[in-house]
Amino acid sequence: MKIAIVGATGAVGVEMLRVLEASTLQPSEVQLYASARSAGSTLPFRRRDLVVRELVPGPIPADVILASAGGSISKAYAPDWVAGGSVVIDNSSAFRLDADVPLVIPEINPDAALSHRGIIANPNCTTAIAAVAVWPLHRAFGVRRMIISTYQATSGAGAKGMEELLEGTRAYLDEQAVEARTFAHAIPFNLIPHIDTFQDNGYTREEMKVAWETRKIFGEPNLRVSCTAVRIPTLRAHSEAITLEFERSATPDEARELLGTAPGVELVDDPAAKRYPMPLTASGKYDVEVGRVRASLVFDGGLDFFVSGDQLLKGAALNAVQIAELLHERGALRAVTSSEVVSGR
Ligand code: A2P
Repeated sequence: MKIAIVGATGAVGVEMLRVLEASTLQPSEVQLYASARSAGSTLPFRRRDLVVRELVPGPIPADVILASAGGSISKAYAPDWVAGGSVVIDNSSAFRLDADVPLVIPEINPDAALSHRGIIANPNCTTAIAAVAVWPLHRAFGVRRMIISTYQATSGAGAKGMEELLEGTRAYLDEQAVEARTFAHAIPFNLIPHIDTFQDNGYTREEMKVAWETRKIFGEPNLRVSCTAVRIPTLRAHSEAITLEFERSATPDEARELLGTAPGVELVDDPAAKRYPMPLTASGKYDVEVGRVRASLVFDGGLDFFVSGDQLLKGAALNAVQIAELLHERGALRAVTSSEVVSGR
């Protein structure tokens, strides 16, 4: 199997290569693509240095393309990649809500991936981290309403977001002016309740993605979801406070039992020992940390809890590689016929 990573030099692309290195997949070839700026640079993979190539229009000679160079690149290039016989696992938001593109978290809706028509979408990072924790509770108790407040790391805005935090923090400590380039305001020693663009309903697109995508992944078009998304001055791993109202009453003990064995979840819930999810402990981990599980004081039989997950991993690179593994294991890595090709709108 030949695998290509598009956007290989970005915050997510670098992680895709690392996760691939540790995965069970044994690609015969790994090709790396980025902009002309990075062409000729190298990245290590299984004791070899792979050379980054410039992405140019047209097909890529790979069975699987893991794409993470942004929505406009995916939109413009993916139809050609599919027409050239590749299966595209796309980390951007370009195709996530298209009816003929599966939106997949392997722990939740693996079968959706099998009916792909050339493109499979990887969910938004905030959505993915919440979804792996909420899904086992939804199956047991039926989520009726879900309220999320997020604490999102600067790496959610890519490598340049992390640089802006580090440079800005140095400037702030040196009593220099702090520049805001990637973010709407200075991020060091601040937090910003503004991620992506504002919609007519007053929510941001990031907040609405959590609602739209969770409904699609769960197959629950009427699920009530409300989110407030906030950027905070951490480097990596998103955290989220989640409140759930259920059809059937849940207790914290029942929830902890389910979460303790749920795939993709690590229960970190021992407040007396100061153990709870945090970005510093969740960073670099494949599993999403879940803790602070308690009975809701607002919704009878509902729950409050806190999650921290490495959004570059489960929220992006890891989920994408897991989709590739799933397709490989289930024999669904096939070129689509021309009549199946998605519109790529
Ligand atoms: P490059 O590093 O050459 O700019 P991030 O999300 O961390 O900002 O990373 C974005 C990724 O997408 C990087 O690998 C970046 O490459 C790549 N990229 C950005 N613009 C283009 C483009 N026009 N063509 C190909 N790759 C691009």
